[in-house]
Amino acid sequence: MHLWVFSIHVLVILCSSTIHAKTVVETLATDDRFQIFVRQLNKTDLLQDLDQYPSATVFAPTNEAFDSRMTIVQTKEMTRAELLYHILPQSILTDEWYNGELLETSYTQDGKPQKIKLTNNSGKWSLADNVNIVDADLKTDNGVVQVVDGLLTPPKDLVQTLAEHKELDTFCTLAKKAHIETELKRANGYTIFATRDVLDGLTDAEKAYLNHSEAKEDIALVLRHQISDSDLYFGKIPAGKTLVKTLQGEDLELVSDKNNNNQVTVNGAKIVQSDILASNGVIHILEKSILPKNHDFLKMNLRKALIGMNATKFVSLFENNGLENYLNTKDAYSIIAPPNGELDEHTIPRNEIRSWLKYHLISQKYDINNFTDGLLVKSESNDHLSKNEKQRILIHIIDQDQMPISAMKKSIQFNHATLIGNPVTVENSIIYPVSRSLELPLDPLSRLPLNLDLSTFVASLYSSNTADEIKSAQGITLLVPTNKAFERLGILTKHLLQPNSQQKLARVIKFHAIKNRLYYINETKQGEYHVPTLDGHSEIQINKTVDGRMYIRGSGAGDGSDRSVIAKVVHPDMLVSNGVIHKIDRIEIPSTLQVSNRDLLLAENTNNFVNLIHKTNLSDQILDGLDQPYTVLAPSDRAFAKLNITNLLQNPDELLRVAKLHILPIALPKMSLQPGQGSNRFDEKPTEGDNEEGDDRDNHSDITGDGVEFSSLLEHEPLIISQIDPGYIIQVKRDIRHSADVVDIGRGSNGGGVIVIDRVLLPYDQAEHNHPLAWWVTLLVAIGVLLCATLIGALGYYGWRWWKERREGYISLDEEH
Ligand SMILES: *[C@@H]1O[C@H](CO)[C@@H](O)[C@H](O)[C@H]1NC(C)=O
Ligand SMILES: *[C@@H]1O[C@H](CO)[C@@H](O)[C@H](O)[C@H]1NC(C)=O
Ligand SMILES: *[C@@H]1O[C@H](CO)[C@@H](O)[C@H](O)[C@H]1NC(C)=O
Ligand SMILES: *[C@@H]1O[C@H](CO)[C@@H](O)[C@H](O)[C@H]1NC(C)=O
Ligand SMILES: *[C@@H]1O[C@H](CO)[C@@H](O)[C@H](O)[C@H]1NC(C)=O
Ligand SMILES: *[C@@H]1O[C@H](CO)[C@@H](O)[C@H](O)[C@H]1NC(C)=O
Ligand SMILES: *[C@@H]1O[C@H](CO)[C@@H](O)[C@H](O)[C@H]1NC(C)=O
Ligand SMILES: *[C@@H]1O[C@H](CO)[C@@H](O)[C@H](O)[C@H]1NC(C)=O
Ligand SMILES: *[C@@H]1O[C@H](CO)[C@@H](O)[C@H](O)[C@H]1NC(C)=O
Ligand SMILES: *[C@@H]1O[C@H](CO)[C@@H](O)[C@H](O)[C@H]1NC(C)=O
Repeated sequence: MHLWVFSIHVLVILCSSTIHAKTVVETLATDDRFQIFVRQLNKTDLLQDLDQYPSATVFAPTNEAFDSRMTIVQTKEMTRAELLYHILPQSILTDEWYNGELLETSYTQDGKPQKIKLTNNSGKWSLADNVNIVDADLKTDNGVVQVVDGLLTPPKDLVQTLAEHKELDTFCTLAKKAHIETELKRANGYTIFATRDVLDGLTDAEKAYLNHSEAKEDIALVLRHQISDSDLYFGKIPAGKTLVKTLQGEDLELVSDKNNNNQVTVNGAKIVQSDILASNGVIHILEKSILPKNHDFLKMNLRKALIGMNATKFVSLFENNGLENYLNTKDAYSIIAPPNGELDEHTIPRNEIRSWLKYHLISQKYDINNFTDGLLVKSESNDHLSKNEKQRILIHIIDQDQMPISAMKKSIQFNHATLIGNPVTVENSIIYPVSRSLELPLDPLSRLPLNLDLSTFVASLYSSNTADEIKSAQGITLLVPTNKAFERLGILTKHLLQPNSQQKLARVIKFHAIKNRLYYINETKQGEYHVPTLDGHSEIQINKTVDGRMYIRGSGAGDGSDRSVIAKVVHPDMLVSNGVIHKIDRIEIPSTLQVSNRDLLLAENTNNFVNLIHKTNLSDQILDGLDQPYTVLAPSDRAFAKLNITNLLQNPDELLRVAKLHILPIALPKMSLQPGQGSNRFDEKPTEGDNEEGDDRDNHSDITGDGVEFSSLLEHEPLIISQIDPGYIIQVKRDIRHSADVVDIGRGSNGGGVIVIDRVLLPYDQAEHNHPLAWWVTLLVAIGVLLCATLIGALGYYGWRWWKERREGYISLDEEH
């Protein structure tokens, strides 16, 4: 029954549609499914307009299509434009469609009918994401109604369309950086061949540069190479090869292969997604980027690479100081570039900014692997140096072994600036991004005081009036002895530091300033040779060993055999504005510098002893002679204070004997009051490179712990000098009850010298005479002897008696039997 009624109903409907033909409008209006759509059409007067269409296709969304966007519909009515986009000004049935076909709608913008793209989804047609044909081909008098389950949105302009496509993000960002969005918005029928990774195929440096907003013209260049000003919808691309002019000017070669599934390539890159519709153009996505054919189209140079590394402040400094040539040169450089965040503008030295900037340029291209620890590379800066020389930068490589295996990169420092990223190679040059800007080397007078253990030298520079000469000398090597080296010279140092020795001190200082620059590592030549110093009279000897150590020798001890006077470089290569400083552990004396025993004695204030020598008729040779060496054992004034010499002074013969006892007719024995190397390092913070490992300079003492005998000018009265810990003692061999400690030592220029002692030495008999026993000691001894004698006497007497009694007792006992 019900089935029968239903069949009639269907029949009636079918008859009415064929017999009583309806218009599109009537079809829509009488179908409940389109109530909302019809109401919207009616509101925008489109219902009447539609009636005028000779033929039309309407994509009619069902009520549900609206409901699915309920929120939007309830608040916002569809515009006439949106509605027009659902209407085609021609009647077209689905069996005439093909996949990818573009249908022109009644909605036009700038005179261009906006299109709808048809997609065959495994037999089902869809018009956009989530808009499918659910009921196809409702035929009417003047057209056809296609029922859809969603609302169509007209295409947006190229810029918005790019932005809505996730995979075209990069293109979109770059378009904004290049300021070409305006052009894209205004375009009327552009085609964009976009890619996911627009910059694919460029070097890292180029990519980084193009990512920077300063590069906007070059970005535009890259993007405009991917844009044509004609609208090349996929279906319009002719078969075979076509050349299409781009906005950048170069042609793109499009190849359409009708046999191969209509595949189209652009400069060899396949179109993987075609016809992304925009209101004013169309976008095709390529599998890979297309770049201008000329590889060097960006004309990368150091400037552009630096911009890519965010070193724009650095670039501006070069440009504002007339050094822009360095940034577009073809010459090879290694550039040490602090990015903006690391460049502290307060540290830029305003008065030598050009020199400072040039200090960041190494004059050759060094790859990471070219760097070795301690290497001194040449910069472009050369103020304060002679013409052909360059300021150096010290390379420091942090031990890789201490880094985790994953961090295989070397950690490199340029002076104190650490490498913070991958170096970037451009043209013939390379750029190293670093953690801070470099500082120009300080002048020596500013640099030296930073080392506390060089304070004596610094004081000497000023007291000898050589500071200015050292500072203004161009291109020198300054050998700077440590404070300990000064101490080691003992009395000689005291002499040199006396105000009236200023000239001599100046010569010693200048003897330590070599006239050219001897960088320590791999630059100072090997072997033994002399080099001129600022002390015009003398050359200093260099001994650079095969294993890379450097020794320095001045005149040394008398016969030149004393290795203990050889200086060793303990900390090389401190860079200063006018050269380089090496720290050394000995002071070297120019051979022509004259220091007599008298100089040493006066420096030590041994006035009593000098007076004593004067009173005798000993030869001037001993105090002032510079030929034959004498070693003078000089008791300090304090030593004389312990002794009453009134008698001595009244007796010229004795006086002479005492004086002679203090004079050895030999060169100063090798002995040093400095504790052994390495034993008192605690007071000195060990700096890197200060490795004073023992070497053959340490075995330098002529004196042993068992004592060594020396004859003095006083015949038959030899002396013994023994090493004790610490220091030395001196004794008269025949009178070893008394000994004098060695207080200070100093060598004169002829090999002789002065040993200051804390006690006056006396000949054996004099010693007796001068040390009478006190009366109470005598008394005590006498009493002691007396007591002993009495005791022995008493013991003897009683012993005798006991023996006698025993003997007699035995006899009497014998007699009793
Ligand atoms: C269109 O709207 C008018 C009133 O605004 C109404 O009279 C007419 O019936 C509507 N037409 C349809 C088909 O809904
Ligand atoms: C649509 O796709 C189906 C299956 O993919 C195919 O069988 C049919 O021929 C296609 N229709 C058109 C018009 O391309
Ligand atoms: C590009 O620049 C943006 C900021 O402008 C930054 O977030 C992004 O990391 C940069 N990309 C590269 C590869 O440097
Ligand atoms: C440059 O700076 C941006 C942000 O300021 C950063 O995202 C980018 O990684 C930097 N590039 C380089 C190479 O340091
Ligand atoms: C760096 O090393 C390469 C290969 O070892 C060498 O050819 C080049 O000359 C070196 N560069 C410098 C500046 O030493
Ligand atoms: C010095 O030269 C030696 C041998 O030629 C080399 O092994 C060493 O790495 C060099 N050192 C520096 C700092 O250049
Ligand atoms: C130079 O040093 C080497 C190694 O220490 C040494 O054998 C040689 O005698 C030294 N030459 C001079 C003149 O000191
Ligand atoms: C030193 O010589 C002078 C004369 O040359 C003499 O008068 C004096 O007595 C001598 N003194 C001694 C200590 O021999
Ligand atoms: C030193 O000795 C002399 C003579 O023996 C004596 O006259 C004098 O007072 C003594 N001086 C001192 C300070 O003891
Ligand atoms: C230096 O002396 C020490 C012991 O005092 C000895 O072990 C060492 O071998 C000596 N060195 C030389 C080079 O003679």
